[in-house]
Amino acid sequence: MTEITGATILLENVTKSYGAKKAAVNQLTLEIPAGKTVMFVGPSGCGKTTTLKMINRLIEPTSGRIVINGEDVTTMNGDELRRRIGYVIQAGGLLPHLTVGANVGLVPKMLKWDKQRIADRTDELLELVSLDPEIYRDRYPKELSGGQQQRVGVARALAADPPVLLMDEPFGAVDPITRQRLQEELIHVQAELHKTIVFVTHDFDEAVKLGDWIVIFNEGGKIEQYGTPEQILAHPANEFVEDFIGSGAGLKQLGLTRVRDVDIRQAPAFTVGEDAATAVAHMNEAGVLRAIVLDSRDRPIGWVTRRQLERMTTVGAAHARQFPVVSDSATLDDALDTMLVAGSSDAAVTGSRGAYQGIITVQTVIKAIDHISADPEEVSTPVGHNTGAIPKLATGENGVISYAMDEEETATEVENDSAPWAEHSDPAETHRGSERA
Ligand SMILES: Nc1ncnc2c1ncn2[C@@H]1O[C@H](COP(=O)(O)OP(=O)(O)O)[C@@H](O)[C@H]1O
Ligand SMILES: [Mg+2]
Repeated sequence: MTEITGATILLENVTKSYGAKKAAVNQLTLEIPAGKTVMFVGPSGCGKTTTLKMINRLIEPTSGRIVINGEDVTTMNGDELRRRIGYVIQAGGLLPHLTVGANVGLVPKMLKWDKQRIADRTDELLELVSLDPEIYRDRYPKELSGGQQQRVGVARALAADPPVLLMDEPFGAVDPITRQRLQEELIHVQAELHKTIVFVTHDFDEAVKLGDWIVIFNEGGKIEQYGTPEQILAHPANEFVEDFIGSGAGLKQLGLTRVRDVDIRQAPAFTVGEDAATAVAHMNEAGVLRAIVLDSRDRPIGWVTRRQLERMTTVGAAHARQFPVVSDSATLDDALDTMLVAGSSDAAVTGSRGAYQGIITVQTVIKAIDHISADPEEVSTPVGHNTGAIPKLATGENGVISYAMDEEETATEVENDSAPWAEHSDPAETHRGSERA
């Protein structure tokens, strides 16, 4: 069992109006389950940022309430609330005159942690986001690349171990390769920490890749669909959602499947220095014309043909032709991309420490498309609508707070005996306590 450190968030019939204009967000009721990543997607101006900022009250709702783990936070002190919620924006939103370390330690300092504890926590977080503390701790933001600044922004948001992380198009300003890496890192961080993450993006593919749940918004914060990526891709609720997904829903489903989930073919592979004649004999037996050459640590170097091997005494790397390599944790989407860019119909698959696992072919990926289009599993979707009805809040087994739609009752009656959502335990302690893979 992995500990969930996140908190449930409930927006209850929340509206934000600016003057006489049509409301930016209108009568939004939305449940965000604890420990999950919920993606807000939709066209520009539909109210994603407004909704996000109402959760930490950088924007005050005009009406409605925000309830976090059973506690109404609509009227609590906004600064105090924001110290309990991590917030990540584009380019990290770092303070330019502070070092990386000081940026990360900002909230702990406000919370008056002692120096040593702040220093330890800062280093721990820099490591979590793959930045060597020795190298980066004392640098200034402008000395870092966009991707590195973004990592510092994530580390800073996590500093006081908040149960909730709000992210507003955080990877919007970096190049596609860096973005892919940051996305994969966020997946790893979340697998370790289990925060409640609300993530705004206008990129549907990013939503599919990162989200446990996706909310598709239309103008005025209107929910067009709330579902898992699988559900939305298989059954778009309406034309608006279909248009938003765009063409090639089948192809997008490739973003849901990892290389390790599909058929990885075995192909003959020989280590540098092995007897070439034996290798050729194996190839003849298997009826293949090419084999993979591995280095002494089992990592693929390239292809050689049988003809080339026949001219060698031991398997050598000199003539090996390079070919694409993908990690078994890559998505099929990324794998296909890698093969197409390399102009190859297959790629070597590697596991931990880059060790050779087998090969994946374009054919395998195409077969997977047919397979994934099958019906996704039924899962009950959290509450999300704009009807004005407020769900009933109930404390069930093990004190787990859940919501059920019941228009006759309101949530107010259970408000007072609910547990505090941000326990003021030692965050470092909580962090260490959470399970590591
Ligand atoms: N400070 C403001 N004053 C007036 N209108 C605003 C303000 N901030 C946002 N809006 C309007 O609210 C709507 C939603 O904006 P926003 O939440 O930023 O959209 P998104 O993040 O989905 O692009 C837009 O129509 C925008 O013009
Ligand atoms: Mg926005």
